[in-house]
Amino acid sequence: MSQLTTQEFCISLSDLAAFLEISPPQAKAKAELALNKKIKSPWLVPEDVRTTLLAEGYKYPQKIISVQMLKGGVAKTTSVLNMGLRAAMYGARVLFIDLDQQANLSFALGVEDESLPVWVDIVEKKKSIEECVRFIEPHVDLIPSSLNNSVMDRVLMNSNRNWAQAVKVPLEKIRHRYDLILIDTAPALSATNTAVTIASDEVILPVNPDKFAMLGLEKNLLELADIKVDFDLQFNRKILFTKFDGRENTSHELLQKCIDSFADELMTGYIRTSSEVKNSVRSGKSLFAGKSPVKADYDLVTREVLGFA
Ligand SMILES: Nc1ncnc2c1ncn2[C@@H]1O[C@H](COP(=O)(O)OP(=O)(O)O)[C@@H](O)[C@H]1O
Ligand SMILES: [Mg+2]
Repeated sequence: MSQLTTQEFCISLSDLAAFLEISPPQAKAKAELALNKKIKSPWLVPEDVRTTLLAEGYKYPQKIISVQMLKGGVAKTTSVLNMGLRAAMYGARVLFIDLDQQANLSFALGVEDESLPVWVDIVEKKKSIEECVRFIEPHVDLIPSSLNNSVMDRVLMNSNRNWAQAVKVPLEKIRHRYDLILIDTAPALSATNTAVTIASDEVILPVNPDKFAMLGLEKNLLELADIKVDFDLQFNRKILFTKFDGRENTSHELLQKCIDSFADELMTGYIRTSSEVKNSVRSGKSLFAGKSPVKADYDLVTREVLGFA
């Protein structure tokens, strides 16, 4: 169990009301009707949100999404963490998979034990996928990573079995338990990331307003296009603009360039830069514990991911 506080895994009645575009007392009444019980706390646990939203006609997706970018520091881990936690607050059943051997996502979720089984153990048939799943909080599970995953590319390349299916096939066993499976990856064009792409229904590519970002994005898009053809895949590509700084020209120029070049693939929501995000992953805190304006940005992006926008 992680050390997450109530406001990091429960949505407030006022946030739920804002989402449903009604007043907090109306949201409370709707939840009480759906749950057939009195609500005393201003926070709703994920299971109760789920029941309420299902009664409202919302449908949860069944999606495997990976977040990839060959460039480091573009907010892959920050985005995976905050989209996943927010999705769980909206009642989605979320599985995080950490496939970066740096294991920042695992650390952020309070899992730091090098002896725990990781994905390479599944590939080597030392562990089942079920044995790798850790409970984090209601509606949030994690398959952690550690430095042990750093040999994964070599293991895949030396394997006699079909290495390209090394993420997809094990996931088939458990994917029905989750609405959203979010995979965090290392910044690389690697065999591991190819196997991740093959398992993905959607690949989200975060991009930052800096001069190397567009170069990285273009390279990554070409790689994904090749994988799509080579393996005859159907996945969607989405670009998520992060660290947008309204005071800087480069931010405006590069966002405009993304709008012009990738209109269909650019996510509607984008993430502003904020000093409060700086150490959020390292300190193991989700943004939803604080007051950062970026909270609202990840809220909108999460709704987009869930199809609740
Ligand atoms: N919106 C943001 N504003 C400011 N800093 C951010 C933002 N998003 C991420 N960061 C910071 O950027 C750094 C890299 O983020 P991280 O999510 O670890 O990237 P990646 O996983 O792509 O390497 C971290 O220090 C993180 O706190
Ligand atoms: Mg990372």
